[in-house]
Amino acid sequence: MNPIPVLLDCDPGHDDAIAILLALGSPQVDLIGITTTFGNCSVGKATYNAQRILALARRPEVPVAAGAAAPLAGEAHIGDFIHGATGIDGPDLPEPLAAPDRREAVEFLRASILAAPHPVTVVATGPITNVARLLRDHPEVGPRIAEIVFMGGSTERGNTTPAAEFNAYADPEALDIVLTSGLPIRMVGLNLSHQALATRDVVARMRAMDHPVGRACADLMGFFGGTYSDVFDFAAPPVHDPCTIAALIDPGLITWHKSFVAVETEGRWTRGATVVDLHGRLDRPPNVEVALTLDVDAYWRLVLDALDRVGS
Ligand code: RIB
Ligand code: CA
Repeated sequence: MNPIPVLLDCDPGHDDAIAILLALGSPQVDLIGITTTFGNCSVGKATYNAQRILALARRPEVPVAAGAAAPLAGEAHIGDFIHGATGIDGPDLPEPLAAPDRREAVEFLRASILAAPHPVTVVATGPITNVARLLRDHPEVGPRIAEIVFMGGSTERGNTTPAAEFNAYADPEALDIVLTSGLPIRMVGLNLSHQALATRDVVARMRAMDHPVGRACADLMGFFGGTYSDVFDFAAPPVHDPCTIAALIDPGLITWHKSFVAVETEGRWTRGATVVDLHGRLDRPPNVEVALTLDVDAYWRLVLDALDRVGS
C-alpha cells in the first residue's frame, strides 16, 4: 500500500514532538511537510522546536514552514504552563540542521497540496488557525484534501477551561471554519487522548532504547509528566497528539462515532467548548468522525516501535 501523504500542522510541544517522530518512523506515512502555529509556545519557538526534532531524527530534509502567531480573533493564549519556557522543556535537543521554508505556512500548505499527485491528509495538533486560513482563502485545495484529522475538543470536559480543550479554546473561530467546511474530518478529543498515558513502563521502554531519540523522548515525558502532575494531578501525562497519526496508521486502534460537532464561539463561560451530539439530539447532519476508545497497548506498541526505528 502506498504511504499516506501527510502535512502536519503543529505547535511542538512535547506531544507534538512524539507525533512528528511517529510519522517519521512509520512506513505507512509520508510526512511531506510540517507547518507551525502559536499554541504551546510562540510560533517562532514552535518552528525552532520542530526543526530540532527533525535534527534529532536526522531528517532535516522535511520542510518546516512557520504560520500563525495569533488566532483569527483575539489574543494568542500560550500553553507554557504545561510545556515550559521553550515549549519543549526537558531534553537537550540538537540545533536545527536546515533553515525553515521561506514560504508562510498557508502558502506552503496550498502549494504542497496542489502539487501532490494524490489527495493529501492534513493533520492538525495545535490551534487550527493555519488550516482554517487555508480553507477560507484557498477553497481550490478542498478537493485535494483526503481528510483533516485534528487533535482538539472533547466529548466531555475541557482542560483549559472547565468547558474547553486548549487547541479549540485557542482559536474557536478557526475550528468553526474547519467543522463547517464539509470536508471529511476526524476528531481526536481529550476523551480519547486521556487514554494515551505515558506510564512509568512506557517511559522506561523509551529510555531503554539505546539511542538519543529514545532518551530524548523519555526526557520529554519526564518534564511533561511533571507539569501534568502539578497542574492536573495526573499520575502519567496524556500524550495527545500522536493519536492523530496512529489513527492514520491503524484506524482499528480507535473506535469512531459519526456525530454532529460544533464549537462554541460566543459563550461567556463556554467559549471554545466542542458540542458533540453523540446521540443525535440536535437533529443536525453528522459532520465529524469522533474518536471514542483507544486500544492502549497497541497504541504504545505502534509508537515505541516507530521511535526505535527513527533512532536506530
Ligand atoms: O489539549 C491538548 C492539546 O493542546 C495538545 O495538542 C497539546 O500539544 C496542546 O497543543
Ligand atoms: Ca499540540
